[in-house]
Amino acid sequence: MRQIPFHRPLIGPEEEAEVIDTLRSGWITTGPKVKRFEREFAEYVGARRALAVAHCTGALHLALFALGIGPGDEVITTPFTFTATAEVMGYLGARPVFVDIDPITLNIDPNQVEQALSSGAHRRVKALMPVHFAGHPCDMDRLGAIASRHGIRIIEDAAHAVGAARTIEGRGMVKIGTIGDLTCFSFYATKNITAAEGGMITTEDDALADRIAVASLHGMDRDAWKRYDASGSWYYEIHDTGFKYNLSDVHAAIGIVQLKRSDDFMRRRASIAQSYNQSFQSDPALEAPQTEAQIEHAWHLYVLKLRLDRLRIDRARFVELLRERGVGTSVHCIPLHTMHFYRDRYGYRPGDFPIAEEVFSRCLSLPIYPAMSAEDISYVAETVLDLSREHRR
Ligand SMILES: Cc1ncc(COP(=O)(O)O)c(C=O)c1O
Repeated sequence: MRQIPFHRPLIGPEEEAEVIDTLRSGWITTGPKVKRFEREFAEYVGARRALAVAHCTGALHLALFALGIGPGDEVITTPFTFTATAEVMGYLGARPVFVDIDPITLNIDPNQVEQALSSGAHRRVKALMPVHFAGHPCDMDRLGAIASRHGIRIIEDAAHAVGAARTIEGRGMVKIGTIGDLTCFSFYATKNITAAEGGMITTEDDALADRIAVASLHGMDRDAWKRYDASGSWYYEIHDTGFKYNLSDVHAAIGIVQLKRSDDFMRRRASIAQSYNQSFQSDPALEAPQTEAQIEHAWHLYVLKLRLDRLRIDRARFVELLRERGVGTSVHCIPLHTMHFYRDRYGYRPGDFPIAEEVFSRCLSLPIYPAMSAEDISYVAETVLDLSREHRR
């Protein structure tokens, strides 16, 4: 039987050579490779500044910190995300204000954002943190208009969205990374491009970028990493609260090569999504993800929704049966407000965000990555179709 893991990174000889070059260079932590990765990433998305950090979680934390978010402040976000999005708010004593999602895009619903801001119930909202879920860019024109009307900042969680783009009024098609005040990317092992671990923050704002550069390495002078270099000085100054979120040159070496392959990877993902869509379109028990004309989807995830009223099994059983037939899947995402921590700490309850819960009850993520062969893709599609036929009402 075929075994298709949920994900496998595509790492080749070029990544290996770049890592070996770094290891042999005598400089393995933050240094010239990180600087190069930042420069090339900024160029790729078209951003003025890019700052590499240890992970997207650290990027989101630093972004909130740079905007001065602190105890008692509120940040609006989606419950349909990984915990990192909201967990970082707690690091600073701020509170995540969840609002429900759009049932089609699975992104935060701009109408719900407007309602939360206009309701009078949330008087300390300082920022909005939309997540480009699965690589489908949020409606940034609408979110941007709402944010400026209410005087709040935007930090985009673009962990799923390296390379994604959407049309922005007056600008045409632009890559995610140049729209909100700050945008945070992930290079975790399963992401569209990986550095094993890693993150990046992009911004057009030099003052925010400078603050993040200092805060990301203990609050030291910006180029303190050079202090062991022949040109460096032993003296450094501490300017601000600091964290240890720098990226190493070993990780950056992988990222530099992966970035060059990003557009190819994205095309491959799009073609897998298209092939799945075609396979599933006439099956009455399957609901394929929808895309929009004004976006370039990064297809980080392929989230299939089951029509449970057409099936005799639930999502958990469907996932189990796929595993028995060698297809690895995952579920994105377990709504945060239904989990113990968010209930106990912030008072959320199951039932608070019915759309996120309804989607969760019937969604699963299928394998979608450039290392899949044509046979792997057909096997996944055929296995899903077989199960749907076998268990249809
Ligand atoms: C939406 C979202 N935000 C943030 C993160 C955190 O990324 P990292 O693992 O790079 O910290 C993830 C990771 O899975 C994610 O899915």
